[in-house]
Amino acid sequence: MGNFLTGKVVAVTGAGRGIGRAVALAAAAEGARVVVNDYGVSVDGASPTSEVAESVVKEIEAAGGEAVAVADDISTMAGGQRLVDTALASYGRIDGVVCVAGILRERMLFNMSEEEWDSVVATHLKGTFTVFRAASAVMRGQRSGTLIGFTSGNHQGSVAQANYSAAKGGIISLVRSAALGLHKYGVTANAVAPVARTRMSAGVPMELTEIGEPEDVAAFVVYLLSDRAREAKVTGQVYTVAGPRIAVWAQPRELRSAHACGGWTPETIAEFLPGAVGVDPMPMLARLEEMERAAREGDRPNAR
Ligand SMILES: NC(=O)c1ccc[n+]([C@@H]2O[C@H](COP(=O)([O-])OP(=O)(O)OC[C@H]3O[C@@H](n4cnc5c(N)ncnc54)[C@H](O)[C@@H]3O)[C@@H](O)[C@H]2O)c1
Repeated sequence: MGNFLTGKVVAVTGAGRGIGRAVALAAAAEGARVVVNDYGVSVDGASPTSEVAESVVKEIEAAGGEAVAVADDISTMAGGQRLVDTALASYGRIDGVVCVAGILRERMLFNMSEEEWDSVVATHLKGTFTVFRAASAVMRGQRSGTLIGFTSGNHQGSVAQANYSAAKGGIISLVRSAALGLHKYGVTANAVAPVARTRMSAGVPMELTEIGEPEDVAAFVVYLLSDRAREAKVTGQVYTVAGPRIAVWAQPRELRSAHACGGWTPETIAEFLPGAVGVDPMPMLARLEEMERAAREGDRPNAR
């Protein structure tokens, strides 16, 4: 056992499998008491079971750690609240929340149903809001805390997962808003874009060019939860973790602008925009052919 998180109480959603499970185990191994949330569903969000969360609690206890299970659907306000209430009731405080829970409903935009859109956005984006909402109210009073959202490189856009991509982009804006709104209360917020071998990545098209293990991501999250990250004033950031590689994403900012004397007309815009303001080439667009070939040929990262 390490002591990177000694004395801290951490809640992790989607902690029954994959990256969330690795985060829960790693946090407990570094001394945190952990609330393990998992609705226990299939990759597309069906067939819930409470056994998944409970088995991770048993793993943590068997290793000498302390944990408690919450098998709620985190996309509900009651689920988010229960996660935080369980931390308070069991351990008296909440120092960090890590929103890892996620599902996939892959479909081209022109075929996507309302249900496919709603369920994915609810699990990822609302499932981060419900937890941030409940936790931040307590952390504001404590004058400390760490909020962590899970995004994806896919927030740049996705061929066949517009629902997932939109939710992941929303999580980044939610994280930045939390970082801004809670800064004066000593609460930090960051997002992680992982690339790791799990049942979920085994099912996505090969938009991934590299892949690591859930434990690589877990080590990074433990750092973000620790006092070391707070001392380094890490907030409002988006980090990629892909095996041995970690990277920070740029903050969005304007690239070029132009001013019109007396206002723009469609005609003057058409004349000036291409040369004066131009476009910012979309990196994913340049990789479209490669991604389409991989999807056609069923190229997938290896599942564990
Ligand atoms: N694996 C990757 O390479 C990769 C890449 C980019 C982003 N991500 C993101 O990382 C996170 C973890 O992904 P993973 O690969 O470990 O997936 P996973 O499918 O192995 O685990 C996700 C877990 O979330 C749980 N879950 C789903 N809906 C829930 C709900 N409503 N309430 C509570 N729990 C729920 C599932 O039961 C499951 O145990 C997801 O947010 C995913 O989008 C993963």
